[in-house]
Amino acid sequence: MNVFIVYAHPSEDSFTRRIRDRFIAGLESAGHCYTISDLYRMNFRTDMDEDEYRREAFYRLEAPVPEDVRREQEKINRGDAIVFIYPVFWSDVPAKLKGWFDRVWTYGFAYGPQNISMKRLEKGLVICSAGNTMDYFRKTGLLQSMERVMLDDRLHDRVKTRELVILEATGRATGQATGQATGRENSSREENWDRHLDRVFSLARNL
Ligand SMILES: Cc1cc2nc3c(=O)[nH]c(=O)nc-3n(C[C@H](O)[C@H](O)[C@H](O)COP(=O)(O)O)c2cc1C
Repeated sequence: MNVFIVYAHPSEDSFTRRIRDRFIAGLESAGHCYTISDLYRMNFRTDMDEDEYRREAFYRLEAPVPEDVRREQEKINRGDAIVFIYPVFWSDVPAKLKGWFDRVWTYGFAYGPQNISMKRLEKGLVICSAGNTMDYFRKTGLLQSMERVMLDDRLHDRVKTRELVILEATGRATGQATGQATGRENSSREENWDRHLDRVFSLARNL
């Protein structure tokens, strides 16, 4: 399978970076091919310019699609699966990835009345790391909201099957994600580390 990974984390020294590397190791061990867009390292521009806005908001549909956006769209259309790997920031994707959707999901490619040029992919997989626990995400309704936005809206029927995996309790400090960080090392981060890495390895193998 050809897998396109969209990766967004600002630091090379992070749990999410290790997740990404283990995922790639799983892909390689299963004989899958992959392409990656590392959005921070590429310095991918995530603010729309005025022409792009005018195109997407139906003021001037004939405005051209910028070259960097076209390259991302070509990577999508060469793939069979798309995989997003990122840390949860304020219950959503980092702004870098949000801007990628704003710019890359263009009219005529990802949406439109008919004949969109985006290939319908076999699989869409979302893997995110989060400071909070699954229990917290379920109780607060945030899990449902993340699934609705990421799977039902952004991926929608652009992929045949879709899945969101949250790797819980991976923040460095206790209480970090709820704004009550104590500075105490979060022991569950270490406890969950291997379990999360193993899970990601088998997700990649079983794509
Ligand atoms: C700006 C910012 C916002 C964050 N918001 C959330 C959040 O809303 N929910 C959550 O569970 N974790 C949140 N986190 C924690 C990250 O998801 C955390 O970085 C991740 O668990 C993994 O750590 P890593 O950065 O070492 O990869 C946030 C972290 C940052 C820096």
